[in-house]
Amino acid sequence: MESIMNNIMIASFTLWALYTECLSVRFQVSSTPSVSVALGSDVLLPCTLTPEKNGEKMEIRWFKKIYRPYVHLYINGKDDYTAQMPQFANRTELLKENITRGDFPLMIRNVTAQDSGEYHCYVESSDHHSMAAVQLQVTAVGTVPVISITNDNVSCESRDWNPKPHLTWTDNEGNEINSSVVEVLRDENNLYYIISIIQQPSASNITCTVSNSINHCSDTRQIRGLEHSQTSRGTHSHVYVIGASFLLIFCICLLLRSLANGTPHTEAHSPV
Ligand SMILES: *[C@@H]1O[C@H](CO)[C@@H](O)[C@H](O)[C@H]1NC(C)=O
Ligand SMILES: *[C@@H]1O[C@H](CO)[C@@H](O)[C@H](O)[C@H]1NC(C)=O
Ligand SMILES: *[C@@H]1O[C@H](CO)[C@@H](O)[C@H](O)[C@H]1NC(C)=O
Ligand SMILES: *[C@@H]1O[C@H](CO)[C@@H](O)[C@H](O)[C@H]1NC(C)=O
Ligand SMILES: *[C@@H]1O[C@H](CO)[C@@H](O)[C@H](O)[C@H]1NC(C)=O
Ligand SMILES: *[C@@H]1O[C@H](CO)[C@@H](O)[C@H](O)[C@H]1NC(C)=O
Repeated sequence: MESIMNNIMIASFTLWALYTECLSVRFQVSSTPSVSVALGSDVLLPCTLTPEKNGEKMEIRWFKKIYRPYVHLYINGKDDYTAQMPQFANRTELLKENITRGDFPLMIRNVTAQDSGEYHCYVESSDHHSMAAVQLQVTAVGTVPVISITNDNVSCESRDWNPKPHLTWTDNEGNEINSSVVEVLRDENNLYYIISIIQQPSASNITCTVSNSINHCSDTRQIRGLEHSQTSRGTHSHVYVIGASFLLIFCICLLLRSLANGTPHTEAHSPV
């Protein structure tokens, strides 16, 4: 009985030893699902090893779509910029303060809209490797929208948005106006430009609101002024119609008078 117990004990110890041996080699890389940062600021992309492990002797590679050129590479105990994506030149730093505890976030300075996207932190030791992904979202609240009124159309435009914005028109009561044309374009900096043109609505005030997942901006314009000019144009034509009618009546009167006067004349003349 005692020998059986001994055997079980020995087997358990062996398994435990194997398990810890396994753990000493294996590690898992983790980050965070997503990070959001305002255009032009600095961002930290986390990357940690579990269980805690010294990363000083490991290869730490941050890359986007492809392994090389990379965003940042730390190899053989130092940073290697030889095949870095030009877009990240002088903007990345692997923070090594806690690298011996398996924590080495990547700092990206002055982020641009192009920096948005999925990043991978790939870590390789002499006998194991693992990888984690993090989504970087660079946000930008665009310019205050500007409403312009031209003849029969009202347009609204705004630029420098990220992520993609949408645009709504509302009337005095806050009811949405169906806008027929909305165009969204991307500029050379990968930021969004949005424009919408609608026919002049019947509402006296009109509001254009541009918004995305992080913020919104709007502009309101009074378009009653234009309605006034239209009604005054209408009043003018009324004046013309009334004027023309008076003239016609006046002419008819003259004609009738001359006809009425003419009869006695002919009568007066006929005896001659
Ligand atoms: C990066 O910095 C170096 C020296 O500080 C400079 O010569 C180089 O032009 C910079 N590159 C970019 C893309 O800013
Ligand atoms: C290193 O770890 C300490 C303690 O957790 C923390 O205060 C510090 O911010 C870390 N440094 C970096 C660069 O992450
Ligand atoms: C940040 O980048 C923009 C262009 O992407 C540049 O115009 C600006 O000078 C940079 N700012 C800093 C502080 O480096
Ligand atoms: C603007 O209004 C004119 C009529 O004045 C129309 O012909 C034109 O198609 C409108 N433009 C747009 C972009 O809706
Ligand atoms: C239209 O806007 C003007 C000023 O912007 C405001 O005084 C007026 O009350 C608004 N009219 C309506 C019907 O909302
Ligand atoms: C907006 O207009 C389009 C066609 O001009 C129509 O198909 C659609 O149903 C309208 N939507 C609303 C909310 O009125």
